[in-house]
Amino acid sequence: MKSVSERHAPVLFQEAIDLLQVRAGGTYVDCTLGLAGHSAGIARQLGAQGHLIGFDRDPEALALAKERLDEVCAALAGNAPRVTLIGEAFSSITRHLQPASVDGLLADFGVSSLQLDEAGRGFSFMADGPLDMRMDTRSGPTAAQVVNEASERELADLIYEYGEERRSRRIARAIVRGRPVTTTGQLSRIVASAAPAMKQAHLHPATRSFQALRIYVNRELDEIQALLEAAPKLLKPSARLVVISFHSLEDRIAKDSFREGARQGVWEILTRKPVTAGEEELQRNPRSRSAKLRAAEKTGTKKPGPGK
Ligand SMILES: C[S@@+](CC[C@H](N)C(=O)[O-])C[C@H]1O[C@@H](n2cnc3c(N)ncnc32)[C@H](O)[C@@H]1O
Repeated sequence: MKSVSERHAPVLFQEAIDLLQVRAGGTYVDCTLGLAGHSAGIARQLGAQGHLIGFDRDPEALALAKERLDEVCAALAGNAPRVTLIGEAFSSITRHLQPASVDGLLADFGVSSLQLDEAGRGFSFMADGPLDMRMDTRSGPTAAQVVNEASERELADLIYEYGEERRSRRIARAIVRGRPVTTTGQLSRIVASAAPAMKQAHLHPATRSFQALRIYVNRELDEIQALLEAAPKLLKPSARLVVISFHSLEDRIAKDSFREGARQGVWEILTRKPVTAGEEELQRNPRSRSAKLRAAEKTGTKKPGPGK
């Protein structure tokens, strides 16, 4: 049987590592550890003088990432970098890192396949479970609380805004009629009956509504905005930022922020068009289908890199 790390392959792994230009002895931040697939790749290139700092606000993911990185570091023995793991949202990054102290920053937004695959986390309409959807299971309202307590208008607005779902009013009406809604299966059936799949649709009818609730519950877009604002202050001159997004709302924030930064002379954009998965990765990992990677380099005088 395949191990957890084999089943959950990091998306655009080589592209992300290459664009980060990981240099031995540097300080690199993985804002979204997940199962530490990308982090493992960074750790292997850092050397004993390097420092890997990782964030994940999901306590379960953080524990698994720690396990994985402990194994990687044990195998690297005397060549293992220092590793610091932080179980908080990445919007808190400026509380943990000094200005101009980072050589590279990576963020692979969204949910991990582990979160999606586990019915008990309540992210997926494919498996019945409690309607939760919180990445940080220690705080904040669950999706069930949102669905059962928001007004019909609020629900319609959030499904429209964060799901880009044109049939949001009809769906919100059906949800309010179907309350209390407590499981992913129940919500999925309500949405599918209010807004059945269109002819030749390749998406499940509940996809957009589930995406909307997940983004809302986890304040995902605010998080991304906060990180993109903090990144130029934290990076050293010539250091790089690499972000991977999975839907148009995330990608638009990254694209606009890079463009504005480039206009102000803060960023040099390294990916004129987003990098997407090649044929081989698409075959191996269908989740890579919607991934878009963008990278930028902080402007400023190039200093000799650490370890050089
Ligand atoms: C797509 S997965 C990352 C997968 C990872 N790159 C790997 O190689 O395994 C995203 C992870 O980031 C975490 N995450 C998402 N938004 C976050 C935020 N705002 N702050 C901290 N962690 C976040 C999620 O809990 C999830 O574990």
